[in-house]
Amino acid sequence: MSNYHVQPIDRPQALTTEALKSLREHPVQGMSRRRLLRISLGGGIALWLTELAGGSLHFLWPNLSGGFGDQHFRIGTLDDVKIANSTLPVAAGFPAYFSEARAFIVLIDPARQAFVPGEDVKGDGTELNVRALYQRCPHLGCKPNACLKNFWLECPCHGSRYDRLGVKAAGDKYGPAPRSMDRFAVTVEADGTLYLNTSKITLGPLPVALGQPGIIPPKSPTGCI
Ligand code: FES
Repeated sequence: MSNYHVQPIDRPQALTTEALKSLREHPVQGMSRRRLLRISLGGGIALWLTELAGGSLHFLWPNLSGGFGDQHFRIGTLDDVKIANSTLPVAAGFPAYFSEARAFIVLIDPARQAFVPGEDVKGDGTELNVRALYQRCPHLGCKPNACLKNFWLECPCHGSRYDRLGVKAAGDKYGPAPRSMDRFAVTVEADGTLYLNTSKITLGPLPVALGQPGIIPPKSPTGCI
């Protein structure tokens, strides 16, 4: 042990009255550390709030960007849909994907090879023989893929499965989505041209147990995921 004690060379000195007066009259130029911190923190919070607001608006009103969101989004006739998806069995009721509309277009009854003129604001589409499904999986928003093996729509993220008309199969085995895929309002004009109202979305119904009416069984016991 030692009682050796080092004296600091420069003890801080109290400011003299003259120095304080001079500081008041001629404040230090530039930005203080406190001000810089406040500005950075404020900027960060503003940016976060902007992103949050943008994300919420996009979720609630997906019609705010570009072509998607049109109240009259032209898809075309059934023949146009077949031509645009010539490698897929659209005529047999396989879902055709239209990325600009963020939608799957599905012929409901393949025995009737045409869209039927009329309007369906709820998007069920039975009368018009066509259903337009919003591409967002109702679980967490991934895009399901249509599977050629079973004609179902399968979500690659957590495995939710829907029949070709977007009806969710009930049961944990078929994934965690709480409801069927959402639907766009549709209009078919007199010449058979299909239009979607992508600003009008109806939530999909509750899942249906396989074997019950209201869900189309898969074409094969195994799927694509
Ligand atoms: Fe589709 Fe989770 S996002 S199952």
